[in-house]
Amino acid sequence: MASKRSQPYQPLLLRILHGITSLFAIAAIVTAFWTYDIYDGRWGRIYLPKYTEIEGIHGTFGLWTLLIFPLFVFYAFNRGQHRLIDSNSLVKLAEFGKPIWWYTLHRLVNTVSILALTLAVFSGKMMNEKWLPEGELNHVWYYVHLVGWLILVICIAIHLLMNIKVGGVSLILSMFNWRFRSEDSPKLWRRNFSIWRDRFGMSTVKQWLQSRSLLKIIEIFVLVAIILAWIVSLLKELLF
Ligand code: HEM
Ligand code: HEM
Repeated sequence: MASKRSQPYQPLLLRILHGITSLFAIAAIVTAFWTYDIYDGRWGRIYLPKYTEIEGIHGTFGLWTLLIFPLFVFYAFNRGQHRLIDSNSLVKLAEFGKPIWWYTLHRLVNTVSILALTLAVFSGKMMNEKWLPEGELNHVWYYVHLVGWLILVICIAIHLLMNIKVGGVSLILSMFNWRFRSEDSPKLWRRNFSIWRDRFGMSTVKQWLQSRSLLKIIEIFVLVAIILAWIVSLLKELLF
């Protein structure tokens, strides 16, 4: 399926990974609010139906987000790094109001959105499903998780506004387009993966670790946070 070159184009792999991650994250955000509405409501509530299963459904969407998220992170910090911050971002942010300023801000918001999702899934793994039904609303990790929700919602809202500002509605729609260019065909993925695997070795890892950019530090931070989330929650299961 050929796509017109004049319209914004998103690589198919990005569309798939970004689409699944954001779909699960948005489902987690909605079910999270419902869970909060039933058991908490200290900062306002809208009295949704008392469907207590929603907590488990939220946990499932949260978990699915956590499972797909590392793949999205891997993509975004490697093939997609031209849409995240770079070493010149601070300089470009000084050019207030110019198109480059908006584009740099867009890249900054993309990067911060990844950090926001990291905070939400990490703090989710620190949660205990018994706290809310038992009325225990003052756990530090619960507050962190609530703040994570708020930051993520704000980030997604600004992310959408920035997308509209830099590329208009056609940029948003390009994320939901099913057409792909022949060089982006899934038929080539197997071959591309084999080439990548053959080239992969200790020298690749060394090279990766040697380049010390702010983006690299953020990437390592996010990946370590995801791994730690699993280790800590497994330890909790084993010890308590
Ligand atoms: C949890 C929610 C989300 C997160 C964490 C997120 C994060 C990101 C990131 C990191 C990128 C850059 C990808 C790269 O490096 O190649 C990106 C791009 C993009 N996102 Fe999202 N996103 C989310 C939700 C959404 C939603 C709901 C939409 C629209 C309905 C959207 C529309 C887009 C578009 C159009 C781009 C491409 C921007 C460009 O080409 O410059 N995102 N997103
Ligand atoms: C109002 C905000 C939120 C509330 C009240 C809330 C509530 C909860 C509760 C009670 C749990 C424990 C339930 C369980 O493990 O089955 C949990 C787990 C979790 N939450 Fe949230 N959450 C909120 C926001 C979010 C957001 C925005 C995300 C982002 C995706 C998220 C991701 C997770 C994850 C990954 C888990 C662990 C699931 C598991 O390991 O089974 N949560 N949350």
